[in-house]
Amino acid sequence: MPRRIEDELEAWRDAALLRKLREIESRDGATIRYAGRALIDFSSNDYLGLAGAPFLKEAAKQAIDAEGVGSAASRLVCGTRSPHLQLEEKLAAFKEAEAALSFSSGYAASVGIVTALAGKKDVVILDKLAHASLVDGARMSGAAVRVFPHNNLEKLESHLQWAAREHPEARVLVVTESVFSMDGDRAPLAALVELKERFGAMLLVDEAHALGVIGRQGRGLADREGVTGRVDVQMGTLSKALGVSGGYVCGSRALIDFLINRARSFVYSTAPAPALAAAASAALDFLQTAEGEERRKKLWQNIRVLAEGLPPGAAPARIQSAIIPVILGDEGVALAAANRLYEHGFYVPAIRYPTVARGSARLRVTLSAAHEEEEIRRFTTALCMVAGEGEK
Ligand SMILES: Cc1ncc(COP(=O)(O)O)c(C=O)c1O
Repeated sequence: MPRRIEDELEAWRDAALLRKLREIESRDGATIRYAGRALIDFSSNDYLGLAGAPFLKEAAKQAIDAEGVGSAASRLVCGTRSPHLQLEEKLAAFKEAEAALSFSSGYAASVGIVTALAGKKDVVILDKLAHASLVDGARMSGAAVRVFPHNNLEKLESHLQWAAREHPEARVLVVTESVFSMDGDRAPLAALVELKERFGAMLLVDEAHALGVIGRQGRGLADREGVTGRVDVQMGTLSKALGVSGGYVCGSRALIDFLINRARSFVYSTAPAPALAAAASAALDFLQTAEGEERRKKLWQNIRVLAEGLPPGAAPARIQSAIIPVILGDEGVALAAANRLYEHGFYVPAIRYPTVARGSARLRVTLSAAHEEEEIRRFTTALCMVAGEGEK
């Protein structure tokens, strides 16, 4: 008998893995309204609190008036509009690269870049915790894929040796995130750069969760580590600290020209709305102002306040970003903890398989510059109480 989708749904429900969409009535800074209640949100990637910023709305509105809403076709088919080109110029200057290209989402950027750079004769080597979009790109590319344990340079080196031995003609692409989306820790970028250079491989770094948060004016971890010019493919998204949506890649002129021709998610997809590009440009400008600097400082102050109040043992030893995983293990326990926090007025997602490995279900707590310190203190008090209940 064919497998029924209803049975699969039932099995997921029984295993506490089923997700459902929840309609949020409104979002204002770090406060959301859901089911008629105001909740403090610790779930978003809106690290600088820009998603609802009046100046971003204004930039988008002006672009709608000037450019209309839709983009009408792919940029290669019906011509490219100035907001996309302006955004790309700004991105390239900010990331100190020769050129940049924008995509409709970070997901589309990952898949498009990896499948363009690697084909059947090539090798992709991924960190075990690399984002699903990068994994999907690697799978779709048809390349030989190897995975190294999270941040394990020795194992990466042995994969690079294997690639040099078994696939001497291949293009070898090493893929990692700079700040890991579910664990909040950082990749050892300087060491990764040394290693890939020794083997003549290319390095792709996804800065999705570092842009706007780490480095000079929020340029990212490669900037913080002083290796920007040595990362071949600097990608990320405009959907997190920048508060808009869309993906991007920065690199050499040749890389960008290659992707314009070969990244299928760019070539065969309608360009993102010009208004989104205009808003992302405004967000990028904002990062480089004194006010942008203030927001980033506030975010890091909020991260420190949260770190001080976390339940002992539940949080990582070193907090390295705005993402703090509170690992609870069992999927049901994580779900129950999220529900209890909801009762206390806090919105925090329980992250479960397949987003993270089985048995490592967690609360993924994220901070924003939009949080007030008092809200964070109330949250950590509730979190300690809920974590204590789980131990009984
Ligand atoms: C590391 C990483 N890369 C890529 C993406 C995809 O970006 P987007 O949400 O813009 O599609 C995400 C998040 O969703 C992410 O966390």
